[in-house]
Amino acid sequence: MAGYEEDIKPLFRELDRDEMEWAFDLWSYEDVKEHAQDILERLRVGEMPCDGPWPAERVELFEEWMEEGMQP
Ligand code: HEM
Repeated sequence: MAGYEEDIKPLFRELDRDEMEWAFDLWSYEDVKEHAQDILERLRVGEMPCDGPWPAERVELFEEWMEEGMQP
């Protein structure tokens, strides 16, 4: 089962974190959990990250993590 610390947090670069800090902290479990639905939507349509979409498998991993109850 996917967990935030091990599987999700490492997907976010320092650049992602810095650019998004005005809205939430991508290196914070609580923040990503709280904004997970918005994050997933942006990832899915390829609008985020701003410099190039994630490959589909990565978006699927994020989605799986959500479906499994967003484990820490
Ligand atoms: C995986 C990494 C990223 C994720 C998951 C992400 C997610 C999001 C989300 C959910 C929003 C909407 C926030 C809100 O309105 O409350 C947003 C907005 C925004 N993000 Fe990111 N972001 C990422 C990386 C980046 C990067 C690298 C940039 C580089 C410039 C960036 C620039 C922006 C900007 C300018 C906005 C506001 C404009 C807009 O809503 O499109 N983000 N992002």
